[in-house]
Amino acid sequence: MGRRVLVVGGGGREHALGWRLSTSPSVSVIESAPGNPGLAELGPVHAIDPADPEAVAVLAEERDIDLVVVGPEAPLVAGVVDQLQQREIPAFGPVAAGARIEGSKQFAKEIMVAAGAPTAGYVATGDREVAQAALERFAPPYVVKADGLAAGKGVRICDDLDDARDAVDDALVRRVFGEAGANVVVEEFLDGPERSLFGVCDGEDVVLLAPAQDYKRALDGDGGLNTGGMGAYTPVPGFGLADVARLRELIFLPVLRELARRGSPYRGLLYAGLVETATGPRLLEFNARFGDPETQVVLPHLASDLGELLWASATGTVRDVEVTWHEGAVATVVLASGGYPGPYDTGVPIDGVGAADALDGVQVFHAGTARDTSGALHTAGGRVLDVTARGVDVTDARARAYDAVRYISFDGMQHRTDIAAGI
Ligand code: AMP
Ligand code: GLY
Repeated sequence: MGRRVLVVGGGGREHALGWRLSTSPSVSVIESAPGNPGLAELGPVHAIDPADPEAVAVLAEERDIDLVVVGPEAPLVAGVVDQLQQREIPAFGPVAAGARIEGSKQFAKEIMVAAGAPTAGYVATGDREVAQAALERFAPPYVVKADGLAAGKGVRICDDLDDARDAVDDALVRRVFGEAGANVVVEEFLDGPERSLFGVCDGEDVVLLAPAQDYKRALDGDGGLNTGGMGAYTPVPGFGLADVARLRELIFLPVLRELARRGSPYRGLLYAGLVETATGPRLLEFNARFGDPETQVVLPHLASDLGELLWASATGTVRDVEVTWHEGAVATVVLASGGYPGPYDTGVPIDGVGAADALDGVQVFHAGTARDTSGALHTAGGRVLDVTARGVDVTDARARAYDAVRYISFDGMQHRTDIAAGI
């Protein structure tokens, strides 16, 4: 008998988690809360608030769940895993104190520095004069960040010193980010391609997953506004197993030791956002959860049992787990609502998902979709679908993903055309 798993969340990342878990021999049942139309094909979905710890814990007990897998950061920050631990329900994800590694940039920086991990030089302060003086210490472009969670809008990268000063004042004086901007981090600009590297942690030990590249800007050629991510691929040429093993020693294990030393051992997913600079990889940030849409390529690439791996994280046994990978590569293209990341319509009918999904090697993950009472699919978010394909290499995976994109349509649909191009 396999385990009964509850996936918390309802985006493309959670659909990918549920889908991979549904193929894991160690898992027998997938339920989700609140889920989405993709997850609804895998098992029961429950319309509760995923960031309500009590509601999640009660549901897990009622449904006799063996393992709760938390996808997004909001439930982690709200203490869903703390509540589950109190009731002795195994959960994948950090407690609220651990999720601070994502929720506070200043805290993350302190941990990086204490662990000796390579990162950008920085000054963190709530004092306007100190922040303004700090800018003088760095060369352009200047990086000014609100300390707390600011819905992805808290980072300003400025070519001009006056703009950077204005960014400091926006946060500290004009308080445009509210409390999230009560402190700012002024830091050195890291130049180079970004990589996402995921570690599955159990408090002491970590298993690293295949590196992925995400495309954060809305438009081709990295133009337009920052988004949650418009596409991804894995593996990343030139960033192989030996590099991953080195970063495990250089970043992940020292950070886990530092967090344990401070009395909050870290369990769950530790996401390192890295920049491949001329002098080697340096840490941009940590997140306390799987990346979206990187998860939609990393998990189809994973050959071994995801359910065992997440269970091992929840129960402190990752050192016993070995992960294996498929040959070839995976690419995903995000189909977004017209206007995203700005305002957009919802409730727009979607065509062609079934035909795209039926193509060889293709998997369409639901990110922001819903069904109406007649069962018809429509848009329900900014990022709507993640069209994902496996191929013999990145070029082949990309071609298959874009082929599948042609089957899908909805009014205003937008996507990048250069995901995984020229790799
Ligand atoms: P964050 O909210 O910290 O993930 O930052 C959002 C985006 O801003 C990152 O994905 C980078 O593209 C960019 N960014 C943030 N900090 C830096 C930095 N120190 N150097 C270069 N780019 C940065
Ligand atoms: N794709 C970037 C993130 O999940 O934060």
